Amino acid sequence: MRIDIITILPELMRSPFEASIMKRAIEKGLVEVHFHNLRDYTKNKQKSVDDYQFGGGAGMVMMVQPIDDCITFLKSQRHYDEVIYMTPDGETLNQKMANTMSMYENIIILCGHYKGVDQRVRDHFITKEISIGDYVLSGGEIGAIVLCDALIRLIPGVLSDETSALTDSFQDNLLSPPIYTRPADYKGWKVPEVLTSGHFAKIEKWREDMAYEHTKNRRPDLLDNE
Ligand code: ADE
Repeated sequence: MRIDIITILPELMRSPFEASIMKRAIEKGLVEVHFHNLRDYTKNKQKSVDDYQFGGGAGMVMMVQPIDDCITFLKSQRHYDEVIYMTPDGETLNQKMANTMSMYENIIILCGHYKGVDQRVRDHFITKEISIGDYVLSGGEIGAIVLCDALIRLIPGVLSDETSALTDSFQDNLLSPPIYTRPADYKGWKVPEVLTSGHFAKIEKWREDMAYEHTKNRRPDLLDNE
């Protein structure tokens, strides 16, 4: 998979890709992440990428021209499955969307800033608008990092034990059951006996029951969507 990220803050974005699972995925050649600084595409002398809103109103708007030039250049190089815009009024990201998108070959992610982008960018270039939740961030960059993390860990071969992504919370509309490690007794706080019983069928049943209980208590809405 190739991910092209268009941003005015590439320096803000790099470090999450230089650690842990995303770093390993890049090193294994399973994903390429390229940052494009929008300022490199602006044609005006001040190198600005934003301007005042037509009709007045507070907040600057990201201009069409640099975004057009950047996306048009990228699209001349290869086909993209989606051109994604990170925005609080987009479709809220969930595991199902991440599963689908993890199978894509090439995607562009545009990070918005200020008040947002000129509507003509959305009308003519964007194929998918994604929000990471009902709150407003200072820009799309952190949302783009969240999206990349959710996608990259699902690419086959990224996680050493592939089943560990399959047993993640949300994969089957259930939250994960509780997990424990040694010691089995810490200050009298004991691990549930079944987990140390060595009886795998019982352990599996216990995990399923706990996942269901946990989901029912915390996120009953997930059970309704089955
Ligand atoms: N940009 C600003 N807020 C955002 C959000 N909640 N999700 C995605 N991009 C954003």
